[in-house]
Amino acid sequence: MSPQRFPTSTTSASSTILGDRLKFRNGPEAQNRFLKAALTEIQSTYAPNEPKKHGLPTDTILNIYDKWGNGKYGVILTSNVLVDPTNLESAGNAIIFKEGESHERRALYTYWAQLMKQDGALAVMQLSHAGRQTPELVNPSPWSASDVQLVSSARFITYGKPIPLPTELVKTEVVDRFVYAAKYAYECGFDGIQLHGAHGYLFSQFTSPTTNKRTDKYGGSLENRQRIVLEIYDAIRAEIPASTGFLVGIKTNSVEFQNEGLTLEDAKLMCKVYEERGFDFVELSGGTFEKIAFVHERESTRRREAFFVEFAEQIRPVFNKTVVYLTGGFRTAPAMIDAIKSNATQGIGLGRPITAEPDLPKKILEGDVTSAIQDHLPDLQAALRWSRWAEQAWRKLVGM
Ligand SMILES: Cc1cc2nc3c(=O)[nH]c(=O)nc-3n(C[C@H](O)[C@H](O)[C@H](O)COP(=O)(O)O)c2cc1C
Repeated sequence: MSPQRFPTSTTSASSTILGDRLKFRNGPEAQNRFLKAALTEIQSTYAPNEPKKHGLPTDTILNIYDKWGNGKYGVILTSNVLVDPTNLESAGNAIIFKEGESHERRALYTYWAQLMKQDGALAVMQLSHAGRQTPELVNPSPWSASDVQLVSSARFITYGKPIPLPTELVKTEVVDRFVYAAKYAYECGFDGIQLHGAHGYLFSQFTSPTTNKRTDKYGGSLENRQRIVLEIYDAIRAEIPASTGFLVGIKTNSVEFQNEGLTLEDAKLMCKVYEERGFDFVELSGGTFEKIAFVHERESTRRREAFFVEFAEQIRPVFNKTVVYLTGGFRTAPAMIDAIKSNATQGIGLGRPITAEPDLPKKILEGDVTSAIQDHLPDLQAALRWSRWAEQAWRKLVGM
Protein backbone atom coordinates (compact mmCIF):
# COMPACT_ATOMS: atom_id res chain seq x y z
CA MET A 1 0.00 0.00 0.00
CA SER A 2 1.48 3.37 -0.97
CA PRO A 3 1.76 5.86 1.90
CA GLN A 4 -0.76 8.64 2.26
CA ARG A 5 0.51 12.05 1.15
CA PHE A 6 -0.56 15.60 1.96
CA PRO A 7 -3.37 16.46 -0.48
CA THR A 8 -2.61 18.86 -3.35
CA SER A 9 -4.50 20.19 -6.33
CA THR A 10 -1.69 19.54 -8.84
CA THR A 11 -0.61 16.23 -10.27
CA SER A 12 2.99 17.14 -11.17
CA ALA A 13 5.53 19.77 -10.19
CA SER A 14 8.29 18.45 -12.43
CA SER A 15 8.95 21.48 -14.64
CA THR A 16 8.56 24.19 -12.06
CA ILE A 17 10.63 26.91 -10.49
CA LEU A 18 11.73 24.35 -7.87
CA GLY A 19 14.13 22.94 -10.44
CA ASP A 20 15.69 26.32 -11.26
CA ARG A 21 19.32 26.84 -10.39
CA LEU A 22 20.21 29.31 -7.67
CA LYS A 23 23.37 31.37 -7.94
CA PHE A 24 25.27 32.56 -4.89
CA ARG A 25 26.95 35.96 -4.91
CA ASN A 26 30.50 34.58 -4.79
CA GLY A 27 30.28 32.09 -7.62
CA PRO A 28 28.82 28.68 -6.80
CA GLU A 29 25.38 27.62 -7.97
CA ALA A 30 22.91 25.25 -6.38
CA GLN A 31 21.36 22.87 -8.91
CA ASN A 32 17.82 23.58 -7.68
CA ARG A 33 15.82 25.30 -4.92
CA PHE A 34 15.79 22.52 -2.32
CA LEU A 35 17.77 22.70 0.92
CA LYS A 36 18.10 19.75 3.27
CA ALA A 37 17.75 21.50 6.63
CA ALA A 38 19.94 20.64 9.63
CA LEU A 39 18.51 17.81 11.77
CA THR A 40 20.59 16.84 14.77
CA GLU A 41 21.22 13.10 14.68
CA ILE A 42 22.94 12.67 18.05
CA GLN A 43 24.77 9.70 16.58
CA SER A 44 28.43 10.69 16.93
CA THR A 45 30.81 9.30 19.54
CA TYR A 46 30.80 10.75 23.05
CA ALA A 47 34.11 10.49 24.92
CA PRO A 48 34.64 13.78 26.77
CA ASN A 49 37.85 12.56 28.42
CA GLU A 50 39.42 11.31 25.20
CA PRO A 51 39.51 14.23 22.74
CA LYS A 52 40.56 12.15 19.73
CA LYS A 53 37.55 9.85 20.18
CA HIS A 54 35.06 12.63 20.99
CA GLY A 55 32.48 13.76 18.43
CA LEU A 56 33.38 11.47 15.52
CA PRO A 57 30.57 10.82 13.02
CA THR A 58 29.50 7.15 13.01
CA ASP A 59 28.23 4.87 10.24
CA THR A 60 24.64 5.70 11.18
CA ILE A 61 25.25 9.30 10.13
CA LEU A 62 27.17 8.38 7.00
CA ASN A 63 24.41 5.96 5.94
CA ILE A 64 21.67 8.56 6.05
CA TYR A 65 23.80 11.14 4.20
CA ASP A 66 24.39 8.53 1.52
CA LYS A 67 20.60 8.60 1.02
CA TRP A 68 20.27 12.40 1.17
CA GLY A 69 23.27 12.63 -1.17
CA ASN A 70 21.18 10.84 -3.80
CA GLY A 71 18.00 12.84 -3.20
CA LYS A 72 18.63 15.73 -5.67
CA TYR A 73 18.95 18.63 -3.25
CA GLY A 74 20.50 21.94 -4.27
CA VAL A 75 22.20 22.28 -0.89
CA ILE A 76 22.58 19.71 1.88
CA LEU A 77 23.29 20.91 5.39
CA THR A 78 24.85 18.69 8.02
CA SER A 79 23.26 18.53 11.45
CA ASN A 80 24.69 21.03 13.91
CA VAL A 81 28.41 20.31 14.19
CA LEU A 82 29.68 21.73 17.47
CA VAL A 83 32.86 23.79 17.77
CA ASP A 84 33.44 23.49 21.53
CA PRO A 85 33.73 19.96 23.02
CA THR A 86 32.20 21.08 26.32
CA ASN A 87 29.35 23.28 25.04
CA LEU A 88 27.27 20.70 23.15
CA GLU A 89 23.63 20.67 22.15
CA SER A 90 23.69 17.00 23.23
CA ALA A 91 26.01 14.14 23.98
CA GLY A 92 26.41 12.46 20.62
CA ASN A 93 26.92 15.64 18.57
CA ALA A 94 29.56 15.73 15.86
CA ILE A 95 32.38 18.05 16.97
CA ILE A 96 35.37 19.76 15.36
CA PHE A 97 38.01 21.12 17.73
CA LYS A 98 41.76 21.54 17.77
CA GLU A 99 42.48 19.13 20.63
CA GLY A 100 40.57 16.38 18.81
CA GLU A 101 42.56 16.60 15.55
CA SER A 102 43.46 13.22 14.02
CA HIS A 103 43.75 11.53 10.62
CA GLU A 104 40.66 9.52 11.46
CA ARG A 105 38.57 12.65 12.12
CA ARG A 106 39.69 14.29 8.88
CA ALA A 107 38.97 11.14 6.89
CA LEU A 108 35.46 10.84 8.36
CA TYR A 109 34.51 14.46 7.69
CA THR A 110 35.99 14.25 4.18
CA TYR A 111 33.91 11.15 3.47
CA TRP A 112 30.82 12.83 4.93
CA ALA A 113 31.23 15.72 2.44
CA GLN A 114 31.73 13.31 -0.46
CA LEU A 115 28.52 11.44 0.39
CA MET A 116 26.56 14.69 0.46
CA LYS A 117 27.83 15.74 -2.98
CA GLN A 118 27.18 12.50 -4.87
CA ASP A 119 24.44 13.80 -7.14
CA GLY A 120 25.52 17.41 -7.42
CA ALA A 121 24.36 19.04 -4.17
CA LEU A 122 26.51 21.62 -2.43
CA ALA A 123 27.67 20.29 0.96
CA VAL A 124 27.40 22.83 3.75
CA MET A 125 28.35 22.20 7.37
CA GLN A 126 26.24 23.82 10.05
CA LEU A 127 28.48 25.10 12.86
CA SER A 128 27.06 25.72 16.30
CA HIS A 129 27.85 26.41 19.94
CA ALA A 130 25.07 25.51 22.35
CA GLY A 131 25.91 28.01 25.10
CA ARG A 132 23.25 27.82 27.83
CA GLN A 133 21.39 25.12 25.86
CA THR A 134 24.15 22.65 26.83
CA PRO A 135 22.53 19.89 28.96
CA GLU A 136 23.57 20.02 32.62
CA LEU A 137 24.97 16.49 32.49
CA VAL A 138 27.32 17.47 29.68
CA ASN A 139 28.39 20.71 31.37
CA PRO A 140 26.74 22.30 34.44
CA SER A 141 28.37 25.70 33.75
CA PRO A 142 28.32 26.43 30.01
CA TRP A 143 29.21 29.78 28.47
CA SER A 144 26.50 32.22 27.46
CA ALA A 145 26.04 35.92 26.83
CA SER A 146 24.71 36.37 30.38
CA ASP A 147 23.78 34.21 33.37
CA VAL A 148 20.15 33.72 32.32
CA GLN A 149 19.47 30.04 32.98
CA LEU A 150 17.32 27.98 30.63
CA VAL A 151 14.29 26.46 32.29
CA SER A 152 12.66 24.19 29.76
CA SER A 153 9.83 21.74 30.10
CA ALA A 154 9.96 20.88 26.43
CA ARG A 155 12.72 18.30 26.79
CA PHE A 156 13.75 15.75 29.38
CA ILE A 157 17.03 17.51 30.07
CA THR A 158 17.94 20.18 32.66
CA TYR A 159 20.35 23.03 32.06
CA GLY A 160 22.89 24.60 34.41
CA LYS A 161 23.37 28.25 35.22
CA PRO A 162 25.53 29.68 32.45
CA ILE A 163 28.65 31.77 32.93
CA PRO A 164 28.69 35.09 31.06
CA LEU A 165 31.59 35.00 28.62
CA PRO A 166 34.24 37.47 29.78
CA THR A 167 34.83 40.07 27.05
CA GLU A 168 38.49 39.09 26.69
CA LEU A 169 37.56 35.41 26.11
CA VAL A 170 35.08 35.98 23.28
CA LYS A 171 37.89 35.68 20.74
CA THR A 172 39.61 32.57 22.11
CA GLU A 173 36.54 30.70 23.35
CA VAL A 174 34.20 31.46 20.47
CA VAL A 175 35.60 33.29 17.43
CA ASP A 176 38.77 31.19 17.08
CA ARG A 177 36.84 27.94 17.50
CA PHE A 178 34.43 28.82 14.67
CA VAL A 179 37.31 29.83 12.41
CA TYR A 180 39.12 26.55 13.16
CA ALA A 181 36.02 24.49 12.33
CA ALA A 182 35.26 26.51 9.17
CA LYS A 183 38.81 25.97 7.89
CA TYR A 184 38.49 22.29 8.71
CA ALA A 185 35.28 22.05 6.71
CA TYR A 186 36.95 23.84 3.79
CA GLU A 187 39.94 21.51 3.87
CA CYS A 188 37.67 18.44 4.05
CA GLY A 189 35.91 19.42 0.84
CA PHE A 190 32.73 21.07 2.12
CA ASP A 191 31.38 23.85 -0.10
CA GLY A 192 30.53 26.12 2.79
CA ILE A 193 29.45 26.56 6.38
CA GLN A 194 26.32 27.88 8.02
CA LEU A 195 26.44 29.59 11.41
CA HIS A 196 23.54 28.41 13.60
CA GLY A 197 22.07 31.72 14.68
CA ALA A 198 18.54 30.45 15.37
CA HIS A 199 16.54 28.46 17.96
CA GLY A 200 18.19 29.87 21.07
CA TYR A 201 21.78 28.63 20.58
CA LEU A 202 24.79 30.80 21.45
CA PHE A 203 24.39 33.42 18.72
CA SER A 204 20.69 33.73 19.54
CA GLN A 205 21.69 34.12 23.20
CA PHE A 206 23.79 37.13 22.16
CA THR A 207 21.31 38.66 19.72
CA SER A 208 18.16 38.19 21.83
CA PRO A 209 17.44 40.74 24.57
CA THR A 210 15.89 37.96 26.70
CA THR A 211 19.30 36.33 27.19
CA ASN A 212 21.77 39.14 26.59
CA LYS A 213 21.99 41.47 29.60
CA ARG A 214 25.57 42.57 28.94
CA THR A 215 26.87 46.10 29.29
CA ASP A 216 30.10 45.67 27.24
CA LYS A 217 30.53 46.01 23.48
CA TYR A 218 28.56 42.75 22.98
CA GLY A 219 25.41 43.93 24.78
CA GLY A 220 22.80 46.70 24.67
CA SER A 221 22.09 47.96 21.16
CA LEU A 222 21.23 45.54 18.36
CA GLU A 223 24.52 46.50 16.72
CA ASN A 224 26.39 45.35 19.84
CA ARG A 225 24.32 42.16 20.23
CA GLN A 226 25.06 41.17 16.64
CA ARG A 227 28.78 42.01 16.92
CA ILE A 228 30.00 38.50 17.80
CA VAL A 229 28.46 37.03 14.63
CA LEU A 230 30.09 39.66 12.44
CA GLU A 231 33.48 39.20 14.12
CA ILE A 232 33.24 35.50 13.29
CA TYR A 233 32.19 36.20 9.71
CA ASP A 234 35.14 38.59 9.22
CA ALA A 235 37.60 36.18 10.86
CA ILE A 236 36.44 33.30 8.65
CA ARG A 237 36.67 35.45 5.54
CA ALA A 238 40.21 36.53 6.54
CA GLU A 239 41.19 32.84 6.32
CA ILE A 240 38.89 31.73 3.48
CA PRO A 241 38.20 34.73 1.22
CA ALA A 242 34.94 35.06 -0.71
CA SER A 243 36.96 34.65 -3.93
CA THR A 244 37.39 30.92 -3.06
CA GLY A 245 33.64 30.48 -3.62
CA PHE A 246 33.35 28.89 -0.15
CA LEU A 247 29.87 29.74 1.13
CA VAL A 248 29.28 31.41 4.47
CA GLY A 249 25.65 31.56 5.53
CA ILE A 250 23.59 31.84 8.68
CA LYS A 251 20.35 30.38 10.01
CA THR A 252 18.48 33.10 11.82
CA ASN A 253 15.15 33.56 13.50
CA SER A 254 12.55 35.63 11.71
CA VAL A 255 10.79 36.08 15.05
CA GLU A 256 10.91 34.52 18.52
CA PHE A 257 7.30 34.47 19.78
CA GLN A 258 8.43 35.58 23.24
CA ASN A 259 7.91 38.69 25.32
CA GLU A 260 11.06 40.74 24.84
CA GLY A 261 12.26 38.20 22.24
CA LEU A 262 13.72 39.10 18.88
CA THR A 263 11.10 41.06 16.96
CA LEU A 264 10.43 41.10 13.25
CA GLU A 265 11.92 44.60 13.13
CA ASP A 266 15.15 43.32 14.80
CA ALA A 267 15.31 40.43 12.34
CA LYS A 268 14.97 42.82 9.41
CA LEU A 269 17.76 45.04 10.69
CA MET A 270 20.02 42.04 11.37
CA CYS A 271 19.38 40.58 7.93
CA LYS A 272 20.17 43.93 6.31
CA VAL A 273 23.58 43.79 8.00
CA TYR A 274 24.15 40.20 6.77
CA GLU A 275 23.35 41.33 3.23
CA GLU A 276 25.74 44.28 3.45
CA ARG A 277 28.52 42.28 5.11
CA GLY A 278 28.57 39.72 2.30
CA PHE A 279 26.85 36.59 3.65
CA ASP A 280 26.13 34.17 0.81
CA PHE A 281 22.82 32.97 2.20
CA VAL A 282 20.41 33.35 5.09
CA GLU A 283 18.01 30.60 6.18
CA LEU A 284 14.99 32.02 7.95
CA SER A 285 13.42 30.04 10.77
CA GLY A 286 11.94 30.86 14.17
CA GLY A 287 11.44 29.98 17.83
CA THR A 288 13.66 29.01 20.76
CA PHE A 289 13.82 26.06 23.15
CA GLU A 290 11.50 27.96 25.48
CA LYS A 291 9.06 28.70 22.70
CA ILE A 292 9.49 26.02 20.13
CA ALA A 293 8.02 27.19 16.83
CA PHE A 294 8.12 24.12 14.63
CA VAL A 295 4.35 23.82 14.99
CA HIS A 296 1.50 26.01 13.84
CA GLU A 297 1.09 27.64 17.21
CA ARG A 298 -0.29 30.99 16.13
CA GLU A 299 -3.53 31.48 14.27
CA SER A 300 -1.81 33.68 11.71
CA THR A 301 0.71 30.96 10.80
CA ARG A 302 -1.99 28.29 10.78
CA ARG A 303 -3.58 29.89 7.74
CA ARG A 304 -0.48 29.16 5.68
CA GLU A 305 1.39 25.92 5.08
CA ALA A 306 4.80 27.33 6.01
CA PHE A 307 5.18 28.61 9.56
CA PHE A 308 7.27 31.72 8.89
CA VAL A 309 6.22 32.74 5.40
CA GLU A 310 4.42 35.87 6.57
CA PHE A 311 7.58 37.03 8.35
CA ALA A 312 9.82 36.06 5.44
CA GLU A 313 7.70 38.19 3.11
CA GLN A 314 8.44 41.21 5.25
CA ILE A 315 12.15 40.51 5.69
CA ARG A 316 12.74 39.59 2.02
CA PRO A 317 13.07 43.18 0.67
CA VAL A 318 16.33 43.73 2.59
CA PHE A 319 18.03 41.03 0.53
CA ASN A 320 19.55 41.75 -2.82
CA LYS A 321 22.69 39.64 -3.27
CA THR A 322 22.25 37.28 -0.33
CA VAL A 323 20.22 34.16 -1.18
CA VAL A 324 17.23 33.49 1.09
CA TYR A 325 15.96 30.09 2.21
CA LEU A 326 12.86 29.55 4.28
CA THR A 327 12.45 26.46 6.46
CA GLY A 328 9.52 25.30 8.54
CA GLY A 329 6.28 23.59 7.61
CA PHE A 330 6.62 23.00 3.86
CA ARG A 331 4.83 19.80 2.89
CA THR A 332 3.40 20.35 -0.62
CA ALA A 333 4.99 21.44 -3.89
CA PRO A 334 2.28 24.07 -4.62
CA ALA A 335 3.01 25.83 -1.31
CA MET A 336 6.75 25.72 -2.04
CA ILE A 337 6.17 27.15 -5.52
CA ASP A 338 3.86 29.86 -4.15
CA ALA A 339 6.44 30.91 -1.56
CA ILE A 340 9.05 31.36 -4.29
CA LYS A 341 6.68 33.00 -6.76
CA SER A 342 5.43 35.45 -4.13
CA ASN A 343 9.09 36.27 -3.52
CA ALA A 344 8.94 35.37 0.16
CA THR A 345 11.96 33.14 -0.44
CA GLN A 346 14.25 31.80 -3.15
CA GLY A 347 14.89 28.37 -1.68
CA ILE A 348 12.88 25.83 0.34
CA GLY A 349 14.27 24.13 3.44
CA LEU A 350 12.92 20.70 4.37
CA GLY A 351 13.38 19.03 7.77
CA ARG A 352 11.03 16.37 9.12
CA PRO A 353 9.45 15.23 5.82
CA ILE A 354 12.83 14.08 4.50
CA THR A 355 13.48 11.83 7.48
CA ALA A 356 10.81 9.48 6.12
CA GLU A 357 11.64 10.11 2.49
CA PRO A 358 15.25 11.20 1.89
CA ASP A 359 14.73 11.60 -1.87
CA LEU A 360 11.59 13.76 -1.73
CA PRO A 361 13.12 16.56 -3.91
CA LYS A 362 14.08 14.04 -6.59
CA LYS A 363 10.55 12.61 -6.62
CA ILE A 364 9.00 16.10 -6.87
CA LEU A 365 11.41 17.23 -9.60
CA GLU A 366 10.85 14.07 -11.62
CA GLY A 367 7.07 14.49 -11.36
CA ASP A 368 6.47 11.36 -9.29
CA VAL A 369 4.87 13.10 -6.30
CA THR A 370 3.61 16.57 -5.37
CA SER A 371 3.79 16.38 -1.58
CA ALA A 372 5.40 14.70 1.40
CA ILE A 373 4.23 11.52 3.08
CA GLN A 374 1.59 12.48 5.62
CA ASP A 375 2.56 10.14 8.43
CA HIS A 376 6.15 11.34 8.56
CA LEU A 377 5.99 12.03 12.33
CA PRO A 378 4.15 15.33 12.08
CA ASP A 379 5.12 18.48 13.92
CA LEU A 380 5.42 18.42 17.69
CA GLN A 381 4.94 14.68 17.79
CA ALA A 382 7.99 14.34 15.59
CA ALA A 383 10.14 16.43 17.87
CA LEU A 384 8.91 14.50 20.90
CA ARG A 385 9.42 11.08 19.37
CA TRP A 386 12.82 12.08 18.08
CA SER A 387 13.73 13.42 21.51
CA ARG A 388 12.56 10.22 23.24
CA TRP A 389 14.68 8.24 20.80
CA ALA A 390 17.55 10.68 21.32
CA GLU A 391 17.11 10.39 25.09
CA GLN A 392 17.68 6.64 24.95
CA ALA A 393 20.73 7.06 22.72
CA TRP A 394 21.98 9.81 24.98
CA ARG A 395 21.55 7.87 28.22
CA LYS A 396 23.43 4.98 26.64
CA LEU A 397 26.24 7.33 25.67
CA VAL A 398 26.65 8.91 29.10
CA GLY A 399 26.13 5.54 30.84
CA MET A 400 22.91 6.39 32.70
C1 LIG B 1 14.58 16.38 15.55
C2 LIG B 1 14.98 17.72 15.02
C3 LIG B 1 16.34 18.09 15.01
C4 LIG B 1 16.72 19.36 14.55
N1 LIG B 1 18.05 19.73 14.55
C5 LIG B 1 18.42 20.94 14.07
C6 LIG B 1 19.79 21.31 13.99
O1 LIG B 1 20.72 20.56 14.32
N2 LIG B 1 20.06 22.56 13.52
C7 LIG B 1 19.09 23.42 13.11
O2 LIG B 1 19.38 24.53 12.68
N3 LIG B 1 17.79 23.08 13.16
C8 LIG B 1 17.44 21.86 13.60
N4 LIG B 1 16.13 21.50 13.59
C9 LIG B 1 15.15 22.39 12.97
C10 LIG B 1 14.97 22.05 11.48
O3 LIG B 1 16.13 22.33 10.74
C11 LIG B 1 13.80 22.84 10.87
O4 LIG B 1 14.09 24.22 11.00
C12 LIG B 1 12.46 22.51 11.54
O5 LIG B 1 12.31 21.12 11.72
C13 LIG B 1 11.28 23.03 10.72
O6 LIG B 1 11.29 22.48 9.43
P1 LIG B 1 10.28 21.26 9.00
O7 LIG B 1 8.91 21.74 9.31
O8 LIG B 1 10.53 21.05 7.55
O9 LIG B 1 10.67 20.08 9.84
C14 LIG B 1 15.74 20.25 14.08
C15 LIG B 1 14.38 19.86 14.07
C16 LIG B 1 13.99 18.61 14.53
C17 LIG B 1 12.55 18.22 14.47
